[in-house]
Amino acid sequence: MKKIELHLHLEGAAPPDFIRGLAAEKGADLSGVFDERGAYAYDGFDGFLRCYEAATSVLRTPRDYARLLEEVLERSAEQGVAYTELFVSPEFCGGGDLSAWRDYLAAMTEVADKARRQGIDSRAILTIIRHFGADRARKTAICAAETAGTWVTGFGMGGAEAVGRATDYDWSFDCAREAGLGLTCHAGEWGGPDSIRDALVLGCTRIGHGVRAIEDPALVRDLIDKDITLEVCPGSNVALGVYPSWRAHPITRLAEAGVRVTVSTDDPPFFHTTMRREYDRLAETFAWGDTEFGQINRWAADAAFCDETTRDRLLKEFS
Ligand code: ADE
Ligand code: ZN
Repeated sequence: MKKIELHLHLEGAAPPDFIRGLAAEKGADLSGVFDERGAYAYDGFDGFLRCYEAATSVLRTPRDYARLLEEVLERSAEQGVAYTELFVSPEFCGGGDLSAWRDYLAAMTEVADKARRQGIDSRAILTIIRHFGADRARKTAICAAETAGTWVTGFGMGGAEAVGRATDYDWSFDCAREAGLGLTCHAGEWGGPDSIRDALVLGCTRIGHGVRAIEDPALVRDLIDKDITLEVCPGSNVALGVYPSWRAHPITRLAEAGVRVTVSTDDPPFFHTTMRREYDRLAETFAWGDTEFGQINRWAADAAFCDETTRDRLLKEFS
C-alpha cells in the first residue's frame, strides 16, 4: 500500500549503523548512545532528547546530511512511501553554524531531486528546537524565510514541550508565515489541550502529535471546525510512554469524531518502527482497512506543504 508520511525527523531517522559509521570516521566518542545490541539507548523523553542530540552531533558537514537523506529516502521508498515531509533542524547542522545552512540545503536538494526522479517525492520542514530557546529560533526562522519555496516548504517546532509556551516563539512563526511557509508545531504530546491551543494561536494548520486534544471535547470540535490536521505517530507515543499501549491510543477515537488524523513514524529507529509496522499495528489493534488508510492518506495530501499540482497528483493516487 502506498503511503504519505508528514512527520519524520531527518536526524531522528538516522539508523544506528549510519551514526556509528560517522562517529568512527570522525573519531567521535558516542559512549552511552547505544545499548549492548547496538540500538539507541535512552530512558524516558528527556533521555531520548539527550541520546538524539548526542547521535546528531556527528552530523557535521553538508555531505553527512546528504548521505543521511539518501539513506532515509531509500528506506522510506522501501516502505511504500510516495511522498514524505522531513523535519530538518539547521540548529543541528554542523553544530548550529547557520552561516553554512545554504550549503547544507544545496547538498540535500540534490539528493531530494534525484530521489523524486526515482519515485519518492519529499519536502523539508525547517524545525526549531523549543528547549534551545527563542533567540536561536529567530535565527533559524530567518534561514527558513530566506530559503522558502525551494525544497523547504514548511516551518515547525519540536523539542521539549514542557519548556515555556509555544507562543513565546511567535516572532519566528510570523516570520515563516510571511515567507509563505506552512506551519506545524509539536503540541499535545507531553502538554495538554492548552498547549495545542497555543499552537493554533501561532497559526499552525497542522499539529505534531496533538493526540491529547482527546482530553477536551471543545478543542476536538475546534480542530474539526478549523480543518486542522494531526500528524499522529502512535508507535512513538507508545514507545515514549505517552500511552501505555496501542489499544489505549486515541487515534481511532479522534478519527471517528471527525478530526483529520494522519500517520507517521517520528523517529523510526529510536522507536523500533517503520511505516509498515505502524499500518500493521493499526490494522491489528483497530481493524483499520482500505477505507481508513485511504482516508488518512487523502487527509495527508490535503494538508501537505506542497504545490497544488503535487497535491492533485497525490489526491488522485489515493482516490
Ligand atoms: N524531536 C524528535 N522527536 C520528537 C518528539 N517525539 N517530540 C518532540 N520533539 C522531537
Ligand atoms: Zn516529532
